[in-house]
Amino acid sequence: MLARQTLASWKKLNQLAQDKKSQHMNTLFAEDSKRFDKFSIELPRLLLDYSKNLIDDETMATLLKLAEETEVTAWREKMFSGEKINKTEHRAVLHTALRRHSDEPLVVDGENVTDHVQQQLAKMEAFVNKVRQGHWLGYSGKRITDIVNIGVGGSNLGPQMVTEALKHYSDNSVNVHYVSNVDGAQIVEILRPLDPEKVLFIVSSKTFTTTETMTNARTAINWLTSSSFDEKSVAKHFVAVTANKENAMSFGIQADNIFDMWDWVGGRFSLWSAIGLPIALDLGFDQFRALLDGAHEMDQHFLSAPLAENMPVIMALLSVWNTTFLGARSQAILPYDQTLHMLSAYLQQAEMESNGKSVTWDGDEVDYATVPSIWGELGINGQHAFYQYLHQSNNVVPADFIGSVASVTPVKGHHETLMSNFFAQTQALMTGVDEEQVRADLKAKGRTDAYIDTVAPHKVHKGNRPTNTLLLKRIDPTTLGSLIALYEHKIFVQGIVLQICSFDQWGVELGKGLAAKIQHELESNTIDPGHDCSTENLLRFYKKASQ
Ligand code: F6P
Repeated sequence: MLARQTLASWKKLNQLAQDKKSQHMNTLFAEDSKRFDKFSIELPRLLLDYSKNLIDDETMATLLKLAEETEVTAWREKMFSGEKINKTEHRAVLHTALRRHSDEPLVVDGENVTDHVQQQLAKMEAFVNKVRQGHWLGYSGKRITDIVNIGVGGSNLGPQMVTEALKHYSDNSVNVHYVSNVDGAQIVEILRPLDPEKVLFIVSSKTFTTTETMTNARTAINWLTSSSFDEKSVAKHFVAVTANKENAMSFGIQADNIFDMWDWVGGRFSLWSAIGLPIALDLGFDQFRALLDGAHEMDQHFLSAPLAENMPVIMALLSVWNTTFLGARSQAILPYDQTLHMLSAYLQQAEMESNGKSVTWDGDEVDYATVPSIWGELGINGQHAFYQYLHQSNNVVPADFIGSVASVTPVKGHHETLMSNFFAQTQALMTGVDEEQVRADLKAKGRTDAYIDTVAPHKVHKGNRPTNTLLLKRIDPTTLGSLIALYEHKIFVQGIVLQICSFDQWGVELGKGLAAKIQHELESNTIDPGHDCSTENLLRFYKKASQ
Protein backbone atom coordinates (compact mmCIF):
# COMPACT_ATOMS: atom_id res chain seq x y z
CA MET A 1 0.00 0.00 0.00
CA LEU A 2 1.46 3.37 -1.01
CA ALA A 3 2.10 5.83 1.80
CA ARG A 4 -0.50 8.57 1.61
CA GLN A 5 2.07 11.35 1.18
CA THR A 6 3.35 9.79 -2.03
CA LEU A 7 -0.02 10.06 -3.78
CA ALA A 8 -0.26 12.70 -6.49
CA SER A 9 -3.48 14.07 -5.01
CA TRP A 10 -1.94 14.32 -1.53
CA LYS A 11 1.02 16.31 -2.87
CA LYS A 12 -1.26 18.60 -4.83
CA LEU A 13 -3.50 19.18 -1.80
CA ASN A 14 -0.43 20.26 0.15
CA GLN A 15 0.29 22.88 -2.50
CA LEU A 16 -3.32 23.99 -2.73
CA ALA A 17 -3.45 24.39 1.02
CA GLN A 18 -0.58 26.86 0.86
CA ASP A 19 -2.45 28.95 -1.75
CA LYS A 20 -5.78 28.73 0.06
CA LYS A 21 -4.39 29.94 3.36
CA SER A 22 -4.07 33.41 1.86
CA GLN A 23 -7.58 33.41 0.36
CA HIS A 24 -10.78 34.58 1.94
CA MET A 25 -14.11 32.86 1.41
CA ASN A 26 -15.66 36.29 0.77
CA THR A 27 -13.63 36.47 -2.43
CA LEU A 28 -14.54 32.93 -3.42
CA PHE A 29 -18.24 33.75 -2.98
CA ALA A 30 -17.88 37.03 -4.87
CA GLU A 31 -16.17 35.26 -7.76
CA ASP A 32 -18.63 32.38 -8.03
CA SER A 33 -22.33 32.93 -7.61
CA LYS A 34 -22.94 29.20 -8.14
CA ARG A 35 -21.09 28.11 -5.01
CA PHE A 36 -24.19 26.95 -3.21
CA ASP A 37 -25.38 24.91 -6.20
CA LYS A 38 -21.97 23.34 -6.61
CA PHE A 39 -21.16 22.77 -2.99
CA SER A 40 -24.37 21.44 -1.51
CA ILE A 41 -26.13 18.07 -1.56
CA GLU A 42 -29.83 17.60 -1.06
CA LEU A 43 -31.29 14.27 0.01
CA PRO A 44 -34.98 13.64 0.72
CA ARG A 45 -34.56 14.22 4.45
CA LEU A 46 -31.61 16.54 4.77
CA LEU A 47 -29.51 19.13 3.06
CA LEU A 48 -25.77 19.62 3.38
CA ASP A 49 -24.39 23.03 2.48
CA TYR A 50 -20.60 22.88 2.48
CA SER A 51 -20.00 25.99 0.41
CA LYS A 52 -18.72 27.88 3.48
CA ASN A 53 -15.43 25.98 3.41
CA LEU A 54 -12.13 27.21 2.02
CA ILE A 55 -12.55 25.22 -1.18
CA ASP A 56 -12.96 25.79 -4.88
CA ASP A 57 -13.49 23.53 -7.90
CA GLU A 58 -9.84 22.52 -8.03
CA THR A 59 -9.67 21.68 -4.33
CA MET A 60 -12.80 19.56 -4.52
CA ALA A 61 -11.60 17.77 -7.65
CA THR A 62 -8.31 16.98 -5.94
CA LEU A 63 -10.00 15.80 -2.76
CA LEU A 64 -12.17 13.50 -4.86
CA LYS A 65 -9.04 12.28 -6.60
CA LEU A 66 -7.67 11.49 -3.15
CA ALA A 67 -10.77 9.40 -2.44
CA GLU A 68 -10.12 7.52 -5.69
CA GLU A 69 -6.42 7.05 -5.06
CA THR A 70 -7.11 5.73 -1.57
CA GLU A 71 -9.67 3.32 -3.04
CA VAL A 72 -12.57 4.44 -0.89
CA THR A 73 -15.12 2.61 -3.07
CA ALA A 74 -13.25 -0.69 -2.89
CA TRP A 75 -12.96 -0.39 0.90
CA ARG A 76 -16.64 0.50 1.13
CA GLU A 77 -17.43 -2.73 -0.71
CA LYS A 78 -15.19 -4.67 1.66
CA MET A 79 -16.96 -3.25 4.69
CA PHE A 80 -20.48 -3.90 3.43
CA SER A 81 -19.63 -7.42 2.28
CA GLY A 82 -18.18 -8.49 5.62
CA GLU A 83 -14.44 -8.64 4.87
CA LYS A 84 -12.35 -8.49 8.01
CA ILE A 85 -11.31 -4.86 7.65
CA ASN A 86 -10.78 -4.43 11.39
CA LYS A 87 -7.28 -5.74 10.87
CA THR A 88 -5.89 -5.56 14.38
CA GLU A 89 -8.80 -7.51 15.84
CA HIS A 90 -9.31 -9.60 12.72
CA ARG A 91 -13.02 -8.81 12.59
CA ALA A 92 -15.59 -7.83 10.03
CA VAL A 93 -17.32 -4.46 10.45
CA LEU A 94 -20.99 -4.98 9.84
CA HIS A 95 -23.10 -2.49 11.74
CA THR A 96 -24.73 -1.84 8.35
CA ALA A 97 -26.05 -5.45 8.41
CA LEU A 98 -28.11 -4.53 11.47
CA ARG A 99 -30.35 -2.34 9.34
CA ARG A 100 -30.48 -4.47 6.19
CA HIS A 101 -33.95 -5.47 5.13
CA SER A 102 -35.01 -9.07 5.72
CA ASP A 103 -34.98 -9.78 1.98
CA GLU A 104 -31.34 -8.70 1.60
CA PRO A 105 -29.27 -11.76 2.53
CA LEU A 106 -25.60 -11.31 3.42
CA VAL A 107 -23.51 -14.44 3.59
CA VAL A 108 -20.31 -14.14 5.61
CA ASP A 109 -18.20 -17.20 6.46
CA GLY A 110 -20.98 -19.43 5.12
CA GLU A 111 -23.69 -17.93 7.34
CA ASN A 112 -26.49 -15.60 6.44
CA VAL A 113 -25.92 -12.67 8.79
CA THR A 114 -29.29 -11.14 7.86
CA ASP A 115 -31.08 -14.19 9.28
CA HIS A 116 -29.30 -13.83 12.64
CA VAL A 117 -30.11 -10.15 12.74
CA GLN A 118 -33.78 -10.76 11.91
CA GLN A 119 -34.05 -13.45 14.60
CA GLN A 120 -32.63 -11.09 17.15
CA LEU A 121 -34.95 -8.28 16.03
CA ALA A 122 -37.91 -10.65 16.42
CA LYS A 123 -36.76 -11.54 19.94
CA MET A 124 -36.38 -7.85 20.75
CA GLU A 125 -39.80 -7.03 19.36
CA ALA A 126 -41.53 -9.75 21.37
CA PHE A 127 -39.77 -8.61 24.55
CA VAL A 128 -40.47 -4.93 23.93
CA ASN A 129 -44.16 -5.56 23.32
CA LYS A 130 -44.44 -7.74 26.40
CA VAL A 131 -42.91 -5.08 28.63
CA ARG A 132 -44.75 -2.13 27.09
CA GLN A 133 -48.12 -3.89 27.14
CA GLY A 134 -47.70 -4.80 30.77
CA HIS A 135 -47.37 -8.57 30.28
CA TRP A 136 -43.83 -8.81 31.66
CA LEU A 137 -44.32 -8.79 35.39
CA GLY A 138 -41.93 -8.21 38.26
CA TYR A 139 -41.36 -10.63 41.15
CA SER A 140 -44.49 -9.48 42.98
CA GLY A 141 -46.70 -9.59 39.89
CA LYS A 142 -46.66 -5.86 39.14
CA ARG A 143 -46.10 -4.44 35.67
CA ILE A 144 -42.79 -2.78 34.78
CA THR A 145 -42.88 1.01 34.86
CA ASP A 146 -39.18 1.87 34.77
CA ILE A 147 -36.25 0.66 32.69
CA VAL A 148 -32.70 1.25 33.94
CA ASN A 149 -30.02 0.77 31.30
CA ILE A 150 -26.60 0.04 32.78
CA GLY A 151 -23.76 0.49 30.30
CA VAL A 152 -21.00 2.89 29.35
CA GLY A 153 -19.42 4.29 26.16
CA GLY A 154 -21.07 2.73 23.12
CA SER A 155 -23.40 0.75 25.38
CA ASN A 156 -24.79 3.98 26.75
CA LEU A 157 -24.17 7.03 24.58
CA GLY A 158 -26.02 5.90 21.44
CA PRO A 159 -29.23 4.74 23.13
CA GLN A 160 -29.27 7.70 25.51
CA MET A 161 -28.61 10.24 22.76
CA VAL A 162 -31.42 8.76 20.63
CA THR A 163 -33.86 8.50 23.56
CA GLU A 164 -33.27 12.18 24.30
CA ALA A 165 -33.55 13.19 20.66
CA LEU A 166 -36.84 11.35 20.16
CA LYS A 167 -38.44 12.05 23.52
CA HIS A 168 -41.45 13.56 21.81
CA TYR A 169 -42.23 10.27 20.09
CA SER A 170 -42.45 8.38 23.38
CA ASP A 171 -45.92 7.35 24.59
CA ASN A 172 -44.52 7.03 28.13
CA SER A 173 -45.47 3.36 28.45
CA VAL A 174 -42.29 3.10 30.51
CA ASN A 175 -39.74 5.55 31.88
CA VAL A 176 -36.17 4.99 30.73
CA HIS A 177 -33.11 5.87 32.84
CA TYR A 178 -29.40 5.52 32.11
CA VAL A 179 -26.59 4.66 34.51
CA SER A 180 -23.06 4.90 33.12
CA ASN A 181 -20.83 6.44 35.79
CA VAL A 182 -19.28 4.22 38.41
CA ASP A 183 -19.61 7.14 40.81
CA GLY A 184 -22.28 5.70 43.09
CA ALA A 185 -23.98 9.10 43.17
CA GLN A 186 -25.57 8.41 39.80
CA ILE A 187 -27.12 5.02 40.45
CA VAL A 188 -28.22 5.99 43.95
CA GLU A 189 -30.00 9.08 42.65
CA ILE A 190 -31.67 7.15 39.85
CA LEU A 191 -32.83 4.27 42.05
CA ARG A 192 -33.95 6.42 45.00
CA PRO A 193 -37.48 7.17 43.72
CA LEU A 194 -37.98 3.80 41.99
CA ASP A 195 -39.93 0.79 43.21
CA PRO A 196 -37.83 -2.42 42.92
CA GLU A 197 -40.98 -4.40 42.16
CA LYS A 198 -41.51 -2.40 38.95
CA VAL A 199 -37.99 -1.90 37.60
CA LEU A 200 -36.34 -3.78 34.77
CA PHE A 201 -32.56 -3.51 34.39
CA ILE A 202 -30.75 -3.90 31.07
CA VAL A 203 -27.08 -4.68 31.55
CA SER A 204 -25.52 -3.62 28.27
CA SER A 205 -21.94 -4.61 27.70
CA LYS A 206 -20.44 -6.13 24.58
CA THR A 207 -17.59 -7.66 26.57
CA PHE A 208 -19.40 -8.09 29.89
CA THR A 209 -16.10 -7.28 31.58
CA THR A 210 -16.29 -3.49 31.80
CA THR A 211 -15.59 -2.61 35.45
CA GLU A 212 -17.93 0.37 35.65
CA THR A 213 -20.87 -1.58 34.23
CA MET A 214 -20.23 -4.69 36.30
CA THR A 215 -19.96 -2.61 39.49
CA ASN A 216 -23.23 -0.80 38.78
CA ALA A 217 -24.96 -4.06 37.84
CA ARG A 218 -23.87 -5.68 41.13
CA THR A 219 -25.25 -2.72 43.06
CA ALA A 220 -28.52 -3.00 41.13
CA ILE A 221 -28.80 -6.72 41.93
CA ASN A 222 -28.18 -6.01 45.63
CA TRP A 223 -30.80 -3.25 45.57
CA LEU A 224 -33.35 -5.60 44.04
CA THR A 225 -32.64 -8.66 46.18
CA SER A 226 -32.55 -6.67 49.40
CA SER A 227 -36.15 -5.77 48.60
CA SER A 228 -37.33 -9.14 47.22
CA PHE A 229 -35.24 -11.30 49.60
CA ASP A 230 -35.04 -13.72 46.73
CA GLU A 231 -32.18 -14.36 44.28
CA LYS A 232 -34.75 -15.73 41.82
CA SER A 233 -36.24 -12.26 41.36
CA VAL A 234 -33.19 -11.43 39.21
CA ALA A 235 -34.73 -13.46 36.36
CA LYS A 236 -37.74 -11.15 36.29
CA HIS A 237 -35.83 -7.91 36.58
CA PHE A 238 -32.58 -8.33 34.64
CA VAL A 239 -31.83 -8.77 30.97
CA ALA A 240 -28.44 -8.43 29.32
CA VAL A 241 -27.13 -7.46 25.91
CA THR A 242 -23.71 -8.91 25.22
CA ALA A 243 -21.40 -10.83 22.91
CA ASN A 244 -20.12 -12.69 26.00
CA LYS A 245 -23.04 -14.90 26.98
CA GLU A 246 -20.90 -16.99 29.30
CA ASN A 247 -19.92 -14.06 31.49
CA ALA A 248 -23.49 -12.78 31.58
CA MET A 249 -24.74 -16.17 32.73
CA SER A 250 -22.10 -16.56 35.41
CA PHE A 251 -23.08 -13.08 36.54
CA GLY A 252 -26.55 -14.45 37.22
CA ILE A 253 -28.51 -13.44 34.12
CA GLN A 254 -30.86 -16.13 32.86
CA ALA A 255 -29.97 -17.49 29.37
CA ASP A 256 -33.36 -16.55 27.86
CA ASN A 257 -32.92 -13.00 29.07
CA ILE A 258 -29.72 -12.48 27.09
CA PHE A 259 -29.78 -10.66 23.77
CA ASP A 260 -26.92 -11.33 21.36
CA MET A 261 -24.32 -9.01 20.03
CA TRP A 262 -21.71 -10.02 17.53
CA ASP A 263 -17.98 -9.37 17.39
CA TRP A 264 -18.57 -7.58 14.08
CA VAL A 265 -20.45 -4.72 15.77
CA GLY A 266 -18.22 -2.12 17.38
CA GLY A 267 -19.58 -0.67 20.64
CA ARG A 268 -19.78 2.86 19.22
CA PHE A 269 -21.74 1.61 16.19
CA SER A 270 -24.08 -0.66 18.14
CA LEU A 271 -27.24 1.30 18.84
CA TRP A 272 -28.88 -0.54 15.91
CA SER A 273 -28.48 -3.87 17.70
CA ALA A 274 -30.12 -5.01 20.94
CA ILE A 275 -28.02 -2.29 22.57
CA GLY A 276 -30.87 -0.13 21.25
CA LEU A 277 -33.41 -1.94 23.48
CA PRO A 278 -34.02 1.07 25.72
CA ILE A 279 -34.89 3.10 22.62
CA ALA A 280 -37.39 0.47 21.46
CA LEU A 281 -38.85 0.15 24.96
CA ASP A 282 -39.32 3.89 25.16
CA LEU A 283 -40.68 4.53 21.66
CA GLY A 284 -42.17 1.21 20.61
CA PHE A 285 -40.77 -1.19 18.05
CA ASP A 286 -42.20 0.54 14.97
CA GLN A 287 -40.28 3.68 15.80
CA PHE A 288 -37.12 1.63 16.36
CA ARG A 289 -37.61 0.10 12.91
CA ALA A 290 -38.05 3.60 11.47
CA LEU A 291 -34.67 4.52 12.98
CA LEU A 292 -33.11 1.46 11.29
CA ASP A 293 -34.84 2.36 8.01
CA GLY A 294 -33.39 5.87 8.13
CA ALA A 295 -29.91 4.44 8.58
CA HIS A 296 -30.53 1.97 5.76
CA GLU A 297 -31.53 4.86 3.52
CA MET A 298 -28.21 6.55 4.22
CA ASP A 299 -26.39 3.25 3.61
CA GLN A 300 -28.01 3.09 0.17
CA HIS A 301 -27.01 6.67 -0.58
CA PHE A 302 -23.44 6.00 0.56
CA LEU A 303 -23.29 2.86 -1.59
CA SER A 304 -24.75 4.28 -4.74
CA ALA A 305 -24.16 8.02 -5.06
CA PRO A 306 -21.17 9.10 -7.15
CA LEU A 307 -18.33 10.27 -4.89
CA ALA A 308 -18.88 13.91 -5.85
CA GLU A 309 -22.50 13.75 -4.66
CA ASN A 310 -21.94 11.41 -1.75
CA MET A 311 -22.67 13.17 1.52
CA PRO A 312 -20.53 11.04 3.87
CA VAL A 313 -17.64 11.06 1.39
CA ILE A 314 -17.76 14.83 0.99
CA MET A 315 -17.96 15.40 4.76
CA ALA A 316 -14.99 13.10 5.33
CA LEU A 317 -12.91 14.78 2.64
CA LEU A 318 -13.69 18.22 4.06
CA SER A 319 -12.61 17.09 7.50
CA VAL A 320 -9.33 15.78 6.07
CA TRP A 321 -8.89 19.02 4.13
CA ASN A 322 -9.50 21.24 7.15
CA THR A 323 -7.43 19.14 9.53
CA THR A 324 -4.63 17.42 7.69
CA PHE A 325 -4.00 20.08 5.06
CA LEU A 326 -5.20 23.38 6.55
CA GLY A 327 -4.09 22.56 10.09
CA ALA A 328 -7.27 22.76 12.20
CA ARG A 329 -6.91 20.63 15.31
CA SER A 330 -10.44 20.57 16.61
CA GLN A 331 -13.95 20.53 15.23
CA ALA A 332 -17.15 21.72 16.85
CA ILE A 333 -20.49 19.93 16.55
CA LEU A 334 -23.22 22.52 17.10
CA PRO A 335 -26.78 21.21 17.05
CA TYR A 336 -29.45 23.87 17.50
CA ASP A 337 -32.43 21.66 18.37
CA GLN A 338 -32.74 21.00 22.08
CA THR A 339 -33.51 17.36 21.31
CA LEU A 340 -30.00 16.85 19.92
CA HIS A 341 -28.31 17.98 23.11
CA MET A 342 -26.31 14.76 23.42
CA LEU A 343 -25.20 14.58 19.80
CA SER A 344 -21.75 16.12 20.34
CA ALA A 345 -20.97 13.70 23.16
CA TYR A 346 -22.09 10.81 20.99
CA LEU A 347 -20.03 11.93 17.99
CA GLN A 348 -17.06 12.55 20.23
CA GLN A 349 -16.83 8.84 20.95
CA ALA A 350 -17.77 7.84 17.41
CA GLU A 351 -15.03 9.88 15.78
CA MET A 352 -12.32 10.16 18.42
CA GLU A 353 -12.36 6.52 19.49
CA SER A 354 -12.41 5.47 15.84
CA ASN A 355 -9.79 7.71 14.32
CA GLY A 356 -7.86 9.28 17.19
CA LYS A 357 -4.76 7.29 16.30
CA SER A 358 -1.25 7.96 15.09
CA VAL A 359 -0.17 4.78 13.36
CA THR A 360 -1.47 3.42 10.08
CA TRP A 361 -3.34 0.13 9.90
CA ASP A 362 0.04 -1.42 9.07
CA GLY A 363 1.52 -0.04 12.28
CA ASP A 364 3.67 2.72 10.75
CA GLU A 365 3.81 6.06 12.50
CA VAL A 366 1.94 8.74 10.53
CA ASP A 367 3.52 12.15 10.09
CA TYR A 368 0.34 14.03 9.25
CA ALA A 369 -2.48 15.22 11.46
CA THR A 370 -5.23 12.63 11.59
CA VAL A 371 -8.55 13.66 13.11
CA PRO A 372 -9.42 16.76 15.08
CA SER A 373 -10.68 16.62 18.63
CA ILE A 374 -14.47 16.76 18.56
CA TRP A 375 -16.37 18.92 20.98
CA GLY A 376 -19.53 20.93 21.12
CA GLU A 377 -22.75 21.88 22.79
CA LEU A 378 -26.16 23.12 21.83
CA GLY A 379 -25.32 25.98 19.50
CA ILE A 380 -27.63 28.50 21.06
CA ASN A 381 -26.08 27.97 24.50
CA GLY A 382 -22.63 28.01 22.95
CA GLN A 383 -23.32 31.44 21.47
CA HIS A 384 -23.45 32.81 25.01
CA ALA A 385 -20.42 30.85 26.14
CA PHE A 386 -17.68 29.84 23.70
CA TYR A 387 -18.63 31.40 20.34
CA GLN A 388 -16.39 34.35 21.22
CA TYR A 389 -13.55 31.87 20.68
CA LEU A 390 -15.02 30.58 17.42
CA HIS A 391 -15.29 34.10 16.03
CA GLN A 392 -12.14 35.80 17.23
CA SER A 393 -9.54 33.44 18.66
CA ASN A 394 -6.43 32.82 16.61
CA ASN A 395 -7.33 29.14 16.38
CA VAL A 396 -9.69 28.25 13.55
CA VAL A 397 -12.31 25.66 14.56
CA PRO A 398 -14.33 24.22 11.68
CA ALA A 399 -17.87 23.54 12.80
CA ASP A 400 -20.90 21.48 11.78
CA PHE A 401 -24.14 23.38 12.35
CA ILE A 402 -27.15 21.06 12.61
CA GLY A 403 -30.70 22.38 12.62
CA SER A 404 -34.17 21.38 11.54
CA VAL A 405 -36.81 23.12 9.44
CA ALA A 406 -39.75 21.93 11.54
CA SER A 407 -39.83 22.16 15.29
CA VAL A 408 -41.07 19.11 17.20
CA THR A 409 -42.73 21.39 19.75
CA PRO A 410 -43.73 24.56 17.98
CA VAL A 411 -44.09 27.46 20.40
CA LYS A 412 -44.92 30.77 18.75
CA GLY A 413 -41.81 32.71 17.82
CA HIS A 414 -39.26 30.33 19.36
CA HIS A 415 -38.22 28.38 16.31
CA GLU A 416 -37.74 31.53 14.22
CA THR A 417 -35.48 33.00 16.89
CA LEU A 418 -33.54 29.76 17.10
CA MET A 419 -33.12 29.40 13.37
CA SER A 420 -32.30 33.04 12.69
CA ASN A 421 -29.34 32.57 15.02
CA PHE A 422 -28.48 29.32 13.26
CA PHE A 423 -28.25 31.03 9.87
CA ALA A 424 -26.65 34.20 11.19
CA GLN A 425 -23.80 32.41 12.89
CA THR A 426 -22.45 30.55 9.86
CA GLN A 427 -22.74 33.75 7.87
CA ALA A 428 -20.87 35.76 10.51
CA LEU A 429 -18.18 33.10 10.86
CA MET A 430 -17.64 33.19 7.13
CA THR A 431 -17.89 36.89 6.24
CA GLY A 432 -16.48 38.47 9.39
CA VAL A 433 -16.23 42.25 9.44
CA ASP A 434 -13.10 44.28 8.67
CA GLU A 435 -11.76 47.33 10.45
CA GLU A 436 -12.91 49.77 7.79
CA GLN A 437 -16.48 48.58 8.16
CA VAL A 438 -16.27 48.58 11.94
CA ARG A 439 -15.06 52.18 11.91
CA ALA A 440 -17.77 53.25 9.45
CA ASP A 441 -20.48 51.63 11.59
CA LEU A 442 -19.23 53.31 14.75
CA LYS A 443 -18.97 56.65 13.00
CA ALA A 444 -22.55 56.28 11.74
CA LYS A 445 -23.61 55.76 15.34
CA GLY A 446 -22.01 59.09 16.27
CA ARG A 447 -19.09 57.70 18.26
CA THR A 448 -16.06 59.93 18.89
CA ASP A 449 -12.78 59.29 17.07
CA ALA A 450 -11.08 58.45 20.36
CA TYR A 451 -13.72 55.86 21.17
CA ILE A 452 -13.46 54.40 17.67
CA ASP A 453 -9.64 54.14 17.91
CA THR A 454 -9.94 52.24 21.19
CA VAL A 455 -12.73 49.87 20.27
CA ALA A 456 -12.33 49.23 16.53
CA PRO A 457 -9.53 46.59 16.70
CA HIS A 458 -11.60 44.57 19.19
CA LYS A 459 -14.64 44.54 16.96
CA VAL A 460 -12.85 43.16 13.91
CA HIS A 461 -13.92 39.63 12.97
CA LYS A 462 -11.59 38.12 10.41
CA GLY A 463 -14.19 35.60 9.28
CA ASN A 464 -13.07 32.87 6.89
CA ARG A 465 -14.05 30.21 9.45
CA PRO A 466 -15.25 27.01 7.76
CA THR A 467 -18.65 25.55 8.55
CA ASN A 468 -20.93 22.84 7.22
CA THR A 469 -24.65 23.34 7.56
CA LEU A 470 -26.84 20.28 7.91
CA LEU A 471 -30.48 21.18 7.66
CA LEU A 472 -32.89 18.37 8.50
CA LYS A 473 -36.53 18.58 7.43
CA ARG A 474 -37.58 17.46 10.90
CA ILE A 475 -36.20 15.39 13.74
CA ASP A 476 -37.99 12.08 13.59
CA PRO A 477 -36.76 8.48 13.95
CA THR A 478 -36.05 8.00 10.24
CA THR A 479 -34.19 11.28 9.80
CA LEU A 480 -32.20 10.71 12.97
CA GLY A 481 -31.24 7.24 11.73
CA SER A 482 -29.98 8.83 8.50
CA LEU A 483 -28.06 11.51 10.35
CA ILE A 484 -26.25 9.03 12.60
CA ALA A 485 -25.41 6.74 9.67
CA LEU A 486 -24.12 9.78 7.77
CA TYR A 487 -21.55 10.42 10.50
CA GLU A 488 -20.71 6.70 10.79
CA HIS A 489 -19.82 6.59 7.09
CA LYS A 490 -18.00 9.89 7.27
CA ILE A 491 -15.82 8.41 10.01
CA PHE A 492 -15.21 5.27 7.94
CA VAL A 493 -14.13 7.27 4.87
CA GLN A 494 -11.87 9.49 6.99
CA GLY A 495 -10.18 6.37 8.36
CA ILE A 496 -9.61 4.96 4.88
CA VAL A 497 -8.24 8.22 3.49
CA LEU A 498 -5.93 8.61 6.49
CA GLN A 499 -5.00 4.90 6.43
CA ILE A 500 -6.19 4.31 9.97
CA CYS A 501 -7.92 1.25 11.42
CA SER A 502 -11.11 2.95 12.63
CA PHE A 503 -12.60 -0.04 14.37
CA ASP A 504 -10.23 -0.92 17.21
CA GLN A 505 -9.56 1.13 20.36
CA TRP A 506 -6.27 -0.01 21.85
CA GLY A 507 -5.76 3.41 23.37
CA VAL A 508 -8.26 2.70 26.14
CA GLU A 509 -6.42 -0.34 27.45
CA LEU A 510 -3.38 1.13 29.23
CA GLY A 511 -5.43 3.29 31.58
CA LYS A 512 -7.84 0.42 32.33
CA GLY A 513 -4.94 -1.87 33.30
CA LEU A 514 -3.36 0.74 35.59
CA ALA A 515 -6.72 1.52 37.22
CA ALA A 516 -7.18 -2.15 38.11
CA LYS A 517 -3.77 -2.18 39.86
CA ILE A 518 -4.40 1.12 41.63
CA GLN A 519 -7.82 -0.06 42.82
CA HIS A 520 -6.04 -2.92 44.54
CA GLU A 521 -3.69 -0.42 46.20
CA LEU A 522 -6.58 1.78 47.33
CA GLU A 523 -8.32 -1.18 48.89
CA SER A 524 -5.21 -2.50 50.65
CA ASN A 525 -2.37 -1.05 52.68
CA THR A 526 0.17 -1.11 49.90
CA ILE A 527 1.47 1.47 47.48
CA ASP A 528 3.43 0.09 44.58
CA PRO A 529 7.01 1.46 44.71
CA GLY A 530 7.07 1.44 40.92
CA HIS A 531 4.87 4.56 40.53
CA ASP A 532 6.28 7.88 39.38
CA CYS A 533 6.55 10.36 42.28
CA SER A 534 3.49 12.36 41.14
CA THR A 535 1.15 9.35 41.15
CA GLU A 536 2.70 7.94 44.31
CA ASN A 537 2.18 11.16 46.26
CA LEU A 538 -1.34 11.63 44.96
CA LEU A 539 -2.16 8.13 46.21
CA ARG A 540 -0.54 8.84 49.58
CA PHE A 541 -2.48 12.09 49.93
CA TYR A 542 -5.74 10.35 49.01
CA LYS A 543 -5.20 7.52 51.45
CA LYS A 544 -4.21 9.82 54.29
CA ALA A 545 -7.10 12.20 53.68
CA SER A 546 -9.61 9.38 53.51
CA GLN A 547 -8.59 7.84 56.85
O1 F6P B 1 -13.24 1.29 27.00
C1 F6P B 1 -13.80 1.66 25.80
C2 F6P B 1 -14.94 0.76 25.44
O2 F6P B 1 -14.45 -0.51 25.17
C3 F6P B 1 -15.74 1.29 24.26
O3 F6P B 1 -15.16 1.00 23.05
C4 F6P B 1 -17.06 0.65 24.48
O4 F6P B 1 -18.09 1.28 23.79
C5 F6P B 1 -17.20 0.79 25.99
O5 F6P B 1 -15.89 0.64 26.49
C6 F6P B 1 -18.11 -0.20 26.64
O6 F6P B 1 -17.69 -1.51 26.41
P1 F6P B 1 -18.64 -2.73 26.72
O7 F6P B 1 -19.85 -2.62 25.90
O8 F6P B 1 -17.83 -3.95 26.39
O9 F6P B 1 -18.97 -2.68 28.20
